[in-house]
Amino acid sequence: MLARVDARIQDLLSAEMSRWAAVDPRVAVPVEAIAELVGAGGKRLRPTFCISGYLAAGGSADDDTVVAAAAGLELLHAFALIHDDIMDNSPTRRGVPTVHAHHARVHAERGWVGEARRYGEGVALLAGDLALSYAGRLTNGLPAPAMEIWTELVTEMIIGQQLDIALAAELSPDPDLARWVAVCKSGRYTIHRPLALGASIAGRPGLQAPFEEYGVAAGEAFQLRDDLLDAFGDSAATGKPAGLDVSEHKMTLLLALAAAKDSRVARLVADGKKGHWDAAELRAALLASGVRRDVEQQIDQLVATARAALDTAPLADDWQQRLGKMAEQVAYRDR
Ligand code: IPE
Ligand code: IPE
Ligand code: MG
Ligand code: MG
Ligand code: MG
Repeated sequence: MLARVDARIQDLLSAEMSRWAAVDPRVAVPVEAIAELVGAGGKRLRPTFCISGYLAAGGSADDDTVVAAAAGLELLHAFALIHDDIMDNSPTRRGVPTVHAHHARVHAERGWVGEARRYGEGVALLAGDLALSYAGRLTNGLPAPAMEIWTELVTEMIIGQQLDIALAAELSPDPDLARWVAVCKSGRYTIHRPLALGASIAGRPGLQAPFEEYGVAAGEAFQLRDDLLDAFGDSAATGKPAGLDVSEHKMTLLLALAAAKDSRVARLVADGKKGHWDAAELRAALLASGVRRDVEQQIDQLVATARAALDTAPLADDWQQRLGKMAEQVAYRDR
């Protein structure tokens, strides 16, 4: 089914590329940018959780509605990532230059007039907008209860992103708010809502409560791992820069927890408010604070909570095991 999801995305993007390239090669540029991002890889977590929620709820494998919804989730993700990389000032994604960085370079190399950065970000804004519109095209035939989940998923991801940039701008390392951001921009968006969407398309409303409990816990573990990978991971594996959260003063859950327990981290954040943001020293302080071990323990607990939510869920044994394993895969991933 996941192969059908990729084929569906491919068909849509190829048709759009030929249609617009025939008008003028310039107008195919944002469509090509989406196709390159999708083609560069990615774990396809949202389609995977959507299809899994659907099959776990007893949906039949030859249905096309869920395939279109899962394809919509991956195009929505393209939109989220392309815009996220502008907001986070990131040069790489999935091992290749980000859309805005690539097009800023094209502008500079060709000696075009105006600001290269503004042009690159302009192309990336449009590519993201277009990806969102394609995602809408793939999902606009969904039944009403599924459409409600879709709308909520899109809205809360965007709202979560707003709080993410606001906390970064204000340098507010608040663990409760940071947790809310992690669950909203990432946990619900990546795991809970895609699963719920799949179950809803299969017509099994009874799975909504256990999927929420499972998805929120596994989703928070997913984002905690994302924070750890940014701080201590290998950019060759993740395909995105290491240390970007600290240099962009992101008030991640990791940093908020470290600031709460370690006075050196708290002092460095406070210095930042006075205009002295020392990313290198903060990275060293984070490492020395021992927060990494605490966060690993939290991840273990969240995985246990996610697994426990499955124990009492009305699911076939096979799906209890598979979803349990998937929670571990997202929580202990290295990319
Ligand atoms: C990255 O998502 C953005 C977050 C929500 C943290 P993924 O880790 O799923 O990225 P890809 O799709 O595999 O590239
Ligand atoms: C972004 O979170 C989440 C979404 C794209 C919705 P991050 O900013 O932590 O994601 P990465 O680390 O750049 O992939
Ligand atoms: Mg971000
Ligand atoms: Mg980012
Ligand atoms: Mg991140």
